[in-house]
Order: sequence, then C-alpha cells, then structure tokens
Amino acid sequence: MSEIGEALAFAARLYGERAHIAYSGYVRRDLMARLHLRDGRANPYPIYERIRERGTLVPARVDGDWVTASHRVCHSVLRSRRFGVQPAPGDDISFLGMNPPDHTRLRRLVQPAFSPKVVASYRQRIERTVAGLLDRAAAAGEFDLVPAFSAPLPIAVITDLLGVPDADAGDFARYGAAIGSALDGIKSLRHASELLANGVKLHKLFEDLIGLRRREPADDIISRLVTASGDQVKPDEMMPVCVLLLIAGFETTVNLISNCVLALLAHPGQWRDVCDAPRELAAKAVEETLRFDPPVQFTDRIALEPAEVEGQAVAKGERVVTLIAAANRDPEIYDGPGAFRLHREPGPEHLAFSSGIHYCLGQPLARLEATIAIQILAERMPHLAQAGPVRRRGGTIIRGPLHLPVTAGRAAPVRQPAGHRG
Ligand code: HEM
Repeated sequence: MSEIGEALAFAARLYGERAHIAYSGYVRRDLMARLHLRDGRANPYPIYERIRERGTLVPARVDGDWVTASHRVCHSVLRSRRFGVQPAPGDDISFLGMNPPDHTRLRRLVQPAFSPKVVASYRQRIERTVAGLLDRAAAAGEFDLVPAFSAPLPIAVITDLLGVPDADAGDFARYGAAIGSALDGIKSLRHASELLANGVKLHKLFEDLIGLRRREPADDIISRLVTASGDQVKPDEMMPVCVLLLIAGFETTVNLISNCVLALLAHPGQWRDVCDAPRELAAKAVEETLRFDPPVQFTDRIALEPAEVEGQAVAKGERVVTLIAAANRDPEIYDGPGAFRLHREPGPEHLAFSSGIHYCLGQPLARLEATIAIQILAERMPHLAQAGPVRRRGGTIIRGPLHLPVTAGRAAPVRQPAGHRG
C-alpha cells in the first residue's frame, strides 16, 4: 500500500475506534468505554466500582472482550500460562510484548542490571539528582512539580543506566518522551507522524550508541547487551529492548512521584507524619500510593487456549482486561480500600507492578527513586502546598498529573548529604 493509502487506512481505523468508544460509552453505557470519556479520564475509580458490582469477570466492548476488577481474578489471569501477551503489529515493546521462550531469554539478559545490589548502587546518584532539582525549585519558590521535579529524575536515572553520553541525554529525553506519549494510544494522524519522526531519530541515536559500545564497552546496560555471548540477542532485538527500557523508565516513575505528592497534599496530617519521620515513612507513602493511585491503571492478556474463568468460557484469542488499579481497591483484600492510609497494616501485595512473568523488571529502581524523592522533598520542603489547579494526562492507561503547581513555603535548613542516606 502507498504511504497515503496507509495513512488513510490508519485514519479510518483511528476514527472508527473513536466512534465505537463514543457510541459504546454514550449510547450503550458500556463501562469500559466510559473510562475513555471525560468523566472517566478525570476520575476512573467510581467506574471501576460499578464494574466490580457487575461481577468478577464481565463482558466488555472496548479495550478487550472481558474485564475484571477483582484482585483474585487479575492475579490469577496475570499468572496463568493459559494467558499471554499479543502486541499490536509495529509496537516496539520488546519482551513486554513476547511470550516464552523469547520473553525468558531477553528478560534474563537485562535482569542483572536491576538486581537489588546494582539498584542500591544508584542511591547516591539519585540523591544528588533529587537535591539538585530541589535546589533549583526552591530558588524559584513556586514551581510546577511535574516538569521541575517528578519528570527529570527518572529521565536522568535511566539515561545514565543505559550509558547515554551526557551530551546526547537531552535528545534521548525529547524523542523518548514523544514516543512514550503513544502508550495511551495514538490520538491523531499528526500525532502518528510525529511519533514516526521521533522514532526514526531515537533509533539513529541508539544505533550510534550501540556501535560505540561495541567498540568501547563500558559499565552500562547497552554494553552488557552488545557483549552478550553468542546468539542470545538477535541484532533486530537490540533496539526494542533499549526503547522499552527508556520508555518504561520515563512514563511511569514520574507519575508515581506526582501521585504520591498529590495524595499527601490532599491528606495534610499524613504529609506532616512523613515530614516528621521522612526516612521511616517515605517508603510507606510510596507503597500506599502504588496501591491507592497507581501510574499504570490496567493491562490485558489474551487467552492462548480456551479457558474457564469465574465460571465463564473465555475463547482462545479473547482479551481479558485486568484493571490493576481496581484490584488494588478490592474490598475483599483491603480494609477501607478507597482511603489513602500510609499507616495501613501490610497486606497482600498490590498489583501496581503487575504479576507473573511480566512483573515489572524496573520495580526496585522505581521504588528507590520515588522513596528518595519523597524523603528529600519532605526534609527540604515541609511547608509544601498546592498553588494552582492540577491538569491531568489525557489517557486511560497511564494516570498522573501533567501539571501540579506547588509552593515551597518557608525554606527548611538544608541537611548534609549524609543525612539522606540509610
Ligand atoms: C512506578 C513505576 C513503574 C510502574 C508502575 C511500572 C509498571 C509496570 C507494569 C504494570 C508492568 C507489566 C505490564 C503487564 O503485565 O502487561 C511493567 C513491566 C515492565 N517494566 Fe515497569 N513500571 C515502573 C517502572 C519501571 C522502570 C523504572 C523500569 C526500567 C527502567 C521498568 C521496566 C519494565 C520492564 C522492562 C517491563 C517488562 C517486563 C516483562 O515483560 O517481563 N518499569 N511495569
């Protein structure tokens, strides 16, 4: 098909899908479709509760054939070998979109870079980055937390981890953010062509970097991948792994930090508790945010063979949407699930990082980054307050603010870096 033909076919699919969502949501009152409409995007949680009321596995018209809000059912579908993933053609999401054995082979290769020991070795670098960002923000007094703090931190960490030279880090960040915007779907033809253009530039940057690390390996993930022995990584598998790590590092941790700050500012008593004991309570605040308002709201699995789930027959090829954000508020599992309580008794693990073989590879890093961010923020800016309206991202899968204006209030004395460790 010619490029114009492809573009037209794409536009027809895109606008057909939009019309289907609007029809299913407004006319058929389909709950999954309503998540995509204005109210659902602003606050999906009441819709999740209505899905839960209908049963543990209910038919859907948008995003999949079935949907579940149950912790037990999400957990079991995500862990079941009868279910797997099926990426849309053209998606560059590497092993996130693969089933075993390819998934196992590629994940194993990258895993050592995210071991507890390696991740712990990033602590000081993360602390330095956080302190630097807060210095700049404090000087401004009033600032937008997302672009000034939550977003630059994960970008700095992941570009460092991948071994991106400082001189190129800005370009990687720009192209990566543009591609990450597709996680929530392509919005228009213009968006699609921007993605394509940024994708080409990002690939070129990675190609050069991969070439450099072949000649001069260093202590980073890309060097590890290119020096991997034998046929462990096929040449055309390299680029998607790099893109996956870049985007996964960009688009998620930013929302964990912002959602945590939002929840704490909405619960001033708990923010005061964190400020009184930042080292002890920052990690708890992050963990409760992952349960209460997770950055990734849902994922899905395809039945690889016919399966019976909750007494219903799921045919081979049918897609089950696992609403992990709803599972995290399942009253069968959590007491007072709709309340943000950082002093909550530890219970079964939330599903914010999914479960089973695709359980988030980067979770130790995400937890460490967010904990350090909240800890130092509480130490340095205990009088932090919201200074303007929140503007949210537009999609349904990734949840978090795009803009969160805050004021630092009265400045706290700067502690010595040693005080940040431990
Ligand atoms: C708060 C931050 C994060 C959240 C909420 C998050 C969430 C998730 C979720 C839900 C999945 C599984 C999706 C599914 O089951 O279909 C996943 C997979 C993955 N995540 Fe994360 N993630 C975060 C941060 C990171 C970071 C910082 C990295 C790496 C730099 C990362 C790398 C990955 C990778 C490589 C996978 C694919 C694992 C596989 O397919 O085996 N994530 N993440």
